[in-house]
Formats: sequence, structure tokens, C-alpha cells
Amino acid sequence: MHAGGRWLGQAERPPRLSISFKIGMVVIKASVIDPMYGAAVRCNCSPRGQSTRANSTPRESVTWQWPPPFQLVGRDELGAVEMLIRRRRAWELRESEATPEEVFLSRRRLLKGAAAGSILASGLGAVIFAAHNGNRDVAPQMAALPAEDDPSTGLYPAERNPRYTLDQPLTDEKLATTYNNFYEFGSQKSIASAAQALKIRPWTIKIDGLVDKPITVGIDDLLKKMPLEERLYRHRCVEAWSMAVPWSGFAMAAFVDFAKPLGSAKYVQMETFLDPKTAPGQKEPWYPWPYVEGLTIAEAGNELAFLVTGMYGKPVPKQDGAPLRLALPWKYGFKSVKSIVHFSFTDKRPVSFWETVQGSEYGFWANVNPEVPHPRWSQATERVLGTNERRPTLKWNGYGEFVAHLYDGLQSERLFF
Ligand code: MTE
Repeated sequence: MHAGGRWLGQAERPPRLSISFKIGMVVIKASVIDPMYGAAVRCNCSPRGQSTRANSTPRESVTWQWPPPFQLVGRDELGAVEMLIRRRRAWELRESEATPEEVFLSRRRLLKGAAAGSILASGLGAVIFAAHNGNRDVAPQMAALPAEDDPSTGLYPAERNPRYTLDQPLTDEKLATTYNNFYEFGSQKSIASAAQALKIRPWTIKIDGLVDKPITVGIDDLLKKMPLEERLYRHRCVEAWSMAVPWSGFAMAAFVDFAKPLGSAKYVQMETFLDPKTAPGQKEPWYPWPYVEGLTIAEAGNELAFLVTGMYGKPVPKQDGAPLRLALPWKYGFKSVKSIVHFSFTDKRPVSFWETVQGSEYGFWANVNPEVPHPRWSQATERVLGTNERRPTLKWNGYGEFVAHLYDGLQSERLFF
């Protein structure tokens, strides 16, 4: 059990999702008590005819909180419920699985096993998994996906800006484009296939709030106005994995100039598309869709803040946030919102998606710092995807010279959550 006995406490929360079924003489009821907070599933069994709903007193039902008959490991690194079902986490891969291809093969084997029922320790686990996981975990089969219909293809590769250098090799393109977090398409890493459902043309971006003049601009018109370049950035997820990625796009500062915020604007809020038909993850009611993120105007104007439209010398693939996403290399990856449709300038601090889900673990600032552990795991080291090497985490993810000054005088804030 992890998280210092939270299972019990959280199980007291009211159920959000309940499933009942019979096996032989018993009725089994499983309730996901609080999927966001995770780690809170209760199984009630009662003899047939004694509904646990009707007979909810302890003497009439058997309640397992831990260990349940199936193997639960708690929430995933960001707190989502799928990981309640035991799956070997990516960072538990053996050394022999270190190369990307082997990672894929191993994941395929894992998924094949899951399909055959051999991974989930019991049928009950499978029921919960199936009920929650509307879109199937699809084994990644593709590398960077071709962008035949993408009118921006000719813009890449953009010229590399030599100012931003790396102290590690670039992550293999295949790995970077098939190991994703994009909860709109599922909370597992292999959402690349599912994300192909996203239509990225036409794609319009609304700019409003405290601006000179609200406007809506098409992505291709925006691309014509912005100075495209390529930058090599480290990319560090709060889950403690890391990559090194050649992003293409333009400085967010250029976009802010284009948007012309008023002097009263202190923050910019960014929103992902909302289309549950295309993105089945958005049907999951316990998430506060659409995905929202925010920055201070000073952060948005910092030279590192980068709006991404390309990756590995091509248009950014859908699973990585096409056609427009953010890259903030000094912050945990969840700040780097994908597939943005709306920028709103405001004088109120935005409350982000993950902050709404679990504010004690994911805050507004989310700057990388090895000395400030996540409440449930250390941030002292990171796992480099591709090699699985563990290397020390750097404060501000190594970008202190560019950004540390932004936080002068803000020491009373929770800068590293
Ligand atoms: N943006 C949206 N819209 N939805 C998401 O689920 N996940 C975030 C961020 N942006 C996410 C998102 C997280 S947790 C991370 S670590 C990065 O995207 C992952 O980016 P990548 O898949 O390109 O590596």
C-alpha cells in the first residue's frame, strides 16, 4: 500500500461509480469512491438477495478495502483511477527492455496478456477496468504519424536555434511520439492510435479576455505570422520520466505580442478542445474538461516559453498535441497543454485541470525541483526514457539561468508543486 494508508480514509468518500454483479451466491459491488483522488475502491459482497445498497451496515456486508481480491496499486502518477488495476508501470521495465523497440514489444505483450485476462488478477478487476476505460489501450504501432493532409508540412524542418542545447541525446522519435500523456484519449501512455481521430484542420484559436481586440485566428494564418524555429528542450513529467525533444514552433512572447493583452492582464489561460465524440476520455465525468492551464504574463513572455507546432522536423503529431501546444521546459510536463483552441488573458489566476483534480499535488506553478518531492514520490531523480537511466533532477530542470528570476519575491508560494 502506498500513500501512507490513504486507502481507508478515501474509501469514506461517496461513490462516483458503482458496479454490481453476481458470482455464484454472492453479489459483488465495487465502487470507485473517488477516481481523481485515486486509491479508493471498495468491494462489498453479500449473499445473494442481500443487496449491499439495501443493507449497507457492516454486519450485512463484507467490505474489503485492502487488499481487494484483485490487485490494486492506487492511482497512476497523476492520480487517475485506471492504475487501480495492476499493470507494470513503464518505469518498472527491466533493463533488458530499455530500447524503445523492446519497450513497444513488451507493451504489446503486456496488452496481449491483458486481453487474455492474464494481467488482471480477477474478473472483477476487469469489470472495473472495462467500465472506466472506454477507449481501449491500443498498442502503439506507428512512429511519427504522416501528416499528409497537414498544409503546414512544408514549413519543417525549421531552422534550429543554437541557444538551447542539451546535455543528453535526443529521445528516439518513435518513443517520444508513442509514449504520451493525453488524457482526452485515455490515461494510458499508448494513446497514439486513438488520438488520430482528432481533426486538426480547420483549427481555429480564439484569443479573448483582457486584450486590445478579441480575435479568432486559423492555425495556418497564425503560422504565417509567427517566426518558426526549432529548439532542443528537456521535457520532464511530474511522473519523473524525462525526454529530450526537438520541438518546432515559435516563442510564446511573439504570440503574446500578436494577442496584444491589456496592461491589466496578469495571466493567460489556455484551453484544449472539447469534443467528447472524438476524445472519449472527455466522456469521463470525474475530470474537469476541457484541459486548462495557465501562466503569468511574465512566464508567458519568458524566452523559454514556446508554442509548439512541430516535432522532429515535421508537424507535431496529434498525440503530442497538434496543431498547437505549449512547451515549458522548466516546469513539469502537465503545464504544457496540448491542442490549444483558446487563449484568454485575465487578471485572475487560472485554476488548471490537474489543480482542480488534486490541488494538493498539482498546483499552479509546478516548477521542477529535486528537493521538493511529490507527496507520493521523490523528484530527486528522473528516468530517462529510452535508456531508463536514473539521473539527478536539476532545479528548474536545468533552466535556472533563464527563469529563476521570475520567482523572486514569490517564496511564500508553492512554487514546486
Ligand atoms: N494536454 C492535454 N490537453 N491533455 C493532457 O492529458 N497531459 C500533460 C501535457 N499536456 C496533457 C496535456 C502531461 S501530464 C504531460 S507530461 C505532457 O502533456 C506530455 O506530453 P507528451 O505526450 O508530448 O510527452
